[in-house]
Amino acid sequence: MIVEADGDFRLDDEDATSALGAALAEALRVGEAICLTGPLGAGKSTLARALIRALTTPTEDVPSPTFTLVQFYEGEGLSVAHFDLYRLTSADEAYEIGLEEALEDGAALIEWPERLEGRLPADRLDIEITIEGEGRRARLTPNGAWEGRGFEFRS
Ligand SMILES: Nc1ncnc2c1ncn2[C@@H]1O[C@H](COP(=O)(O)OP(=O)(O)O)[C@@H](O)[C@H]1O
Ligand SMILES: [Mg+2]
Repeated sequence: MIVEADGDFRLDDEDATSALGAALAEALRVGEAICLTGPLGAGKSTLARALIRALTTPTEDVPSPTFTLVQFYEGEGLSVAHFDLYRLTSADEAYEIGLEEALEDGAALIEWPERLEGRLPADRLDIEITIEGEGRRARLTPNGAWEGRGFEFRS
């Protein structure tokens, strides 16, 4: 069913996190970002990997960009840049490593968007993942073009 990308989604296990990432791949457009927050081990990279694999191939190698800060992918119909800004030293550095260019011809997945000190892409979906018992909870907050958007998901 079509659900609005707004509000809380309970994610019982890793597969549920991956299913959410894959479902969001269908709704993501050029010029937009998905910003992932949550503590280490929350599942930010798990969600990002599933989203990237949905856009590329199921076996796509999706290394963590912890040290490289960004990895680029050519999806079918959409290119996507995967940023992990944990080690970023200033918000300016994100623009030096190509955040703006990435949004010109593709979409961006951003882990640790806090490092941008509020200089966030306007058209974005914020996803805050919290650990809840054995599982997780994802809180989706749409901004700009994401406001009111739905996506196909069985929650
Ligand atoms: N919904 C979930 N319920 C339980 N475990 C999950 C869930 N989603 C992901 N995980 C697990 O939590 C860990 C998340 O790791 P990772 O995605 O690298 O987190 P982060 O990038 O936020 O640091 C993985 O071991 C993954 O299997
Ligand atoms: Mg991570």
